[in-house]
Amino acid sequence: MIREAAREFISEIGDHKVFAFYGKMGAGKTTFIKAVCEQLGVNDVITSPTFAIVNEYEVRGAVANSSLFTLHSSLIYHFDFYRIKRIEEVYDMGYEDYFYSGALCFIEWPELIESLLPDDAVKVSIEENEDGTRVVRY
Ligand SMILES: Nc1ncnc2c1ncn2[C@@H]1O[C@H](COP(=O)(O)OP(=O)(O)OP(=O)(O)O)[C@@H](O)[C@H]1O
Ligand SMILES: [Mg+2]
Repeated sequence: MIREAAREFISEIGDHKVFAFYGKMGAGKTTFIKAVCEQLGVNDVITSPTFAIVNEYEVRGAVANSSLFTLHSSLIYHFDFYRIKRIEEVYDMGYEDYFYSGALCFIEWPELIESLLPDDAVKVSIEENEDGTRVVRY
């Protein structure tokens, strides 16, 4: 179940902040990030950023006071770099202000900004099995 997978993922976040989600189109990156955000108590509608490159969500409830969010704001940033055409767009959006903010960052299509990823970014891969189930590795 995706909910259990999301909970297990959350239990292993620890001090890590930036997560790069690799996987083909339709592999399930947005779906898994949505499940993780829901388990973290985000009430907002979670969809991939379409017009902006990044969406911001706020964590509410008990989880917002947990150790995951104590040092920093209870914000989560969700990026989708699929549509970027030039790396300048990423500089212009001020990516460093997000990646090094201390807030959790979940990134779709990190391949397109690989050289800008922080050294300690966690690589997560999502693949679809033949039976339609997904494997998440990190
Ligand atoms: N764990 C899952 N079990 C069943 N269906 C899933 C699962 N994850 C994703 N899907 C389905 O696969 C489709 C694509 O999922 P999703 O949009 O999350 O992929 P994505 O990796 O974000 O794709 P893109 O590269 O286009 O952003 C959706 O219809 C979604 O419902
Ligand atoms: Mg997606």
